[in-house]
Amino acid sequence: MSRRYHERLRSGAWRGFARCVLILGPVAVAALLLAACAGNQPDVLRPGGSGAEQIRTLTLQIVIILSAVLLTVWILLAIVIIRYRHRPEAEASQTRGNLGIEIVWTAIPAVIVAVLFVLTVRTTLQIALPDPGAQFTTIGHQWWWEFDFPSEGFKTANEVYVPVGRPVSIDLRSTDVIHSFWVPQMGGKVDMNPGHVNHVRFFPLKTGSYLGECSEFCGVQHGRMRFLFIVTTPEKYSAWMHDQALPARQPTGAEAIAGGQLIQTIACGGCHTIRGTAMKGTFGPDLTHFGSRRGIAAFTLSNTPQNLLAWLQDPQKVKPGSKMPQIPLPLQELQQLVAYLEEMK
Ligand code: CUA
Repeated sequence: MSRRYHERLRSGAWRGFARCVLILGPVAVAALLLAACAGNQPDVLRPGGSGAEQIRTLTLQIVIILSAVLLTVWILLAIVIIRYRHRPEAEASQTRGNLGIEIVWTAIPAVIVAVLFVLTVRTTLQIALPDPGAQFTTIGHQWWWEFDFPSEGFKTANEVYVPVGRPVSIDLRSTDVIHSFWVPQMGGKVDMNPGHVNHVRFFPLKTGSYLGECSEFCGVQHGRMRFLFIVTTPEKYSAWMHDQALPARQPTGAEAIAGGQLIQTIACGGCHTIRGTAMKGTFGPDLTHFGSRRGIAAFTLSNTPQNLLAWLQDPQKVKPGSKMPQIPLPLQELQQLVAYLEEMK
């Protein structure tokens, strides 16, 4: 082979390398920017609970081991490329059936996989905490979350409080299809199957409001099946439990009082409960303390009077496929319902 051939080969390699940098460079920059922008999103690498912390540790261990493998291969490759780049074009010596080499390159990956296996099994065992007895049950519905505290006698929806630093044990059920409970910063995903109770346990380590989401495709509004998981101090948790167990408060504003009477005369009680009133439906979320929640429609919207009005006026526009029907009432009466529900703290 001629020298020109070698030069062509070399310039071709350089062009390929430059092309790689041009393509991969912007992709890497975009990925970094995306990671930086995702500050408010649930981030498994910023754990707030024991499960997520153990998963992060395992992730880092695996990344370090695999990076070492990648680096070793790159370095060996670079040494070979640089050291032998100017060899005259003699044909490479052929090796066939080198037992020693084959044993080495079978044994090294086997050892690496064994180490990864042991680390993963150890993490899985650490995550499975002993059962202190479930404090509450989370029930998946299309497309919202129910939190049932049977010993305290209340249910709430799409927002739940737990105390920091104490083990949390939750039973998981579903009323319709398979959902999956996931608070990324607390721990891994656990499926919620109809007809079977699953469990999830972890230690919340840091106070904060964490976004939870459904991680099993469960129908048209799977993507808007979210909830707020609030880790708070034991004092604030006790206050929340005490408030949630109370029946609905009496409305005080004129509009709210009118709304409180109106809601009893229309069909809302067929699906919703407001404890302390005649409304005892169980198909939709319990609205007893609706005003205390930060989100509407499983966190599709934040809980403001304007958003609640928009939701009541046209649920299908806010959340297409939702099982909440439209309420055919004049604007003034819808505003009374809004005033009433927002007072139900
Ligand atoms: Cu429930 Cu996806």
